[in-house]
Amino acid sequence: MGRQVLVIGSGGREHALCLGMHSSPLVDKIYCSPGNAGTSMVANNITIGEDNDKIVKFCQNNDIDLVVVGPEAPLCAFLADDLIKNGIQCFGPVGELANLEGSKLHAKQIMEKVGVPTADFTILDNSTNIDAAMDAYSHNPWVIKRDVLAGGKGVVVTSNYEDAKQFITDAIKTDGSVLLEEFLPGEEASMLVVMDGSDFVCLPASQDHKRAYDSDLGPNTGGMGAYCPAPVVTESVHETVVKKIVKPMFDYLSKSPVPYRGVLYVGLMITDAGEPNVVEFNVRFGDPECQITLPLIKSDLFELLYHASEDRLSELDVEFLDAHALTIVLASEGYPSNPIKGREIVGIENSLKEVGVGKSWINFAGVASRDSKFLSSGGRVLSCSAMALNLGEAATLAYELIESIDLDGGFYRRDIGGKAL
Ligand code: AMP
Ligand code: GLY
Repeated sequence: MGRQVLVIGSGGREHALCLGMHSSPLVDKIYCSPGNAGTSMVANNITIGEDNDKIVKFCQNNDIDLVVVGPEAPLCAFLADDLIKNGIQCFGPVGELANLEGSKLHAKQIMEKVGVPTADFTILDNSTNIDAAMDAYSHNPWVIKRDVLAGGKGVVVTSNYEDAKQFITDAIKTDGSVLLEEFLPGEEASMLVVMDGSDFVCLPASQDHKRAYDSDLGPNTGGMGAYCPAPVVTESVHETVVKKIVKPMFDYLSKSPVPYRGVLYVGLMITDAGEPNVVEFNVRFGDPECQITLPLIKSDLFELLYHASEDRLSELDVEFLDAHALTIVLASEGYPSNPIKGREIVGIENSLKEVGVGKSWINFAGVASRDSKFLSSGGRVLSCSAMALNLGEAATLAYELIESIDLDGGFYRRDIGGKAL
C-alpha cells in the first residue's frame, strides 16, 4: 500500500513539500495542516491546530507513515518528541535539538563547543554598560540578535547608533538580555543538509535575497527570492563548509539520545577569501530556498525524508539534477511591516503547472480561495519558480510567469539571481 504523509505548515515551503510528495510514486495520500490554496490542489487540507496531542491522534486515526514539519515553532514545542514517543515517524528534530534555532545563544554555545567558525559576540543585559559595548563593535554596522523565536524580526543590522541602541534597550526590557555580534562582511548562502543519526546529505547550496527591494535595499524580510545552485559556494568552499561546519555538527547532533532527524539549515557568510562562517542555524527548510532546492533532487523525496526519520540515510545514494532553479516572491503592498491582505490575485487560476526542467510553476504562500476567487492572505503571497539548464533561462521563465499575475499593490524584486548572472 502507498504511504500517507502529513505536512505541517501553510507557506510556500509547505506547498513545495506537498508538490515533492505528490511526485513520489511511493505516496498515496497527503494531508496538510493547515495548508493553503495551493496545497489543497495536491493534498487534503485539514486544520488540526497546534496541540501536539491532537496531531498525534490525527496520525493514529489516519495511519500516517511520516510527518514532515515545515516551520520551526512546532519543533521547538516538542512535536517530534511527542510523535516519536507514540511510534510515529517524524522529519524534523526533537525539541532539545530544535533549540539550535530557538535560541541564538544556545546555537553560539554549541558552535563554540564543536569549533564551528562564527562571528564573535557578547551578551548584554541590565548590568552592561551599553555605550561601552557598542563602542567596542562600532567599526562596523551593529548586528543585534534577540535570543527568542521572533519570526524573522529578531535581528537588526544597522549603522544608525540611535536605532541600534533602541533595539538593544527594548530587547533587554522584554527578553532580559540580547546578543551583540561582530559584523561579518561577505556573501551569504544557504546550505540545507538532510541529516540523521547515520549520515548527512548536503543539498545544492542556494542564495536567498533577504532585503525587500532591488540592490539589497530596504528592510530585512523572510526572503524575496532565491536561486540554486549558488556559484559563490565553489567546490573548494563546499569542501571547507563540510569539513569545518557540517561534519562537526553531524558528529555532535548524531550522538544525541535521539539523533537529529531533519534538515539543518546552515546560513553562511562567505568572506572574500572564501572562508565560510555560520550566521545562523535553522532546524527546517528555508523559505523560499525549499521551493528551488527540492526540485533539483532527482531521487525520490519521500524516500529521502522517510529514511532520515529512521536513521537510514546512509543506505541512500541521493542524486541531483544538473539544472538551475530560481524563484521570485510576490509580496503584498506594505510587506514586511504592514502587509495589506484580502486583495484579489488574478492570473493564477490555471497555475498548477508541472515542476520540471524547462518549466515554470507557482508556489502558493499567503493565498486563500473564496467563491472561486484567490485572495491574498499573507505578506509573502506566492512565488513564481522555474527550472532550466542554465540560470538565465530559469530567470526568464520565472519572470514571464510573475509578470502574468496581477495583485493590486503587490511587488517583487527584479534582480533575483542577478549576482550569479
Ligand atoms: P539571522 O536571523 O541570524 O540569519 O540574521 C538575519 C540576517 O542578518 C542574515 O541573513 C544576515 O543578512 C544578517 N546578519 C546576521 N548576522 C550577521 C553578521 N554577523 N554579520 C553580517 N550580517 C549578519
Ligand atoms: N529564507 C530564510 C529562512 O527561511 O530563514
